[in-house]
Amino acid sequence: KLRLAVLASGRGSNFEAICQAVDEGRLHGQVVLLISDNENAQALERARKRGIKALYINPQSFASRIEYEKALVRACQEVEADIVALAGYMRLLGKTFLNEYHLKTVNIHPALLPAFPGLHAQKQALDYGVRFSGCTVHFVDEGVDTGPIILQAVVPVYFDDTVETLEARILKEEHRIYPKALQLIAEGRVVVEGRRVRIIGDEHGDQDTQ
Ligand code: GAR
Repeated sequence: KLRLAVLASGRGSNFEAICQAVDEGRLHGQVVLLISDNENAQALERARKRGIKALYINPQSFASRIEYEKALVRACQEVEADIVALAGYMRLLGKTFLNEYHLKTVNIHPALLPAFPGLHAQKQALDYGVRFSGCTVHFVDEGVDTGPIILQAVVPVYFDDTVETLEARILKEEHRIYPKALQLIAEGRVVVEGRRVRIIGDEHGDQDTQ
């Protein structure tokens, strides 16, 4: 069983979707830790309600980013996490963390990368005028939303969309593909080959991994 640590800064709906997939047997894993950099994150509340270890780690309480990241590593190691899933975690992770969890840290981004990385991806998509957007689950490297892509899902963008309506349409897909990507990892079917990710059993697109 995959041991998952989740890092979240806010609402935590992706955290919830991951926990639900575990509960329903769609994800053969266990969420063993939730860490937030925001004391008031709803994600912390959700974890406590579920009886999942919930830690608020305040970046400001460390002398440097390196020390903060070392604390994150210690917390993840303490629970023997196999995979660290970023779910609306609004900070960049550097070498100190990624050297320990290289290709073991995944993220979900609310756009079809490499389009619209960084903040406010849904607004960026609306402002650009694209007809389609979506979400991306990818491995985390030191860049901003640049790591190897595991899964993507596409949604249409309508003229009448607001940030809120587009966000909701994308979020629904996030909640579907994030647990799915984690299950593929749990099954050992995700193999990184340079920039490209092989999904074993799906090389010819004969299964739905949108
Ligand atoms: C999600 O839409 C996620 O894709 C996005 O923040 C939201 C968090 O929602 N992440 C980023 O923008 C990362 N740069 P949640 O807290 O309800 O899961």
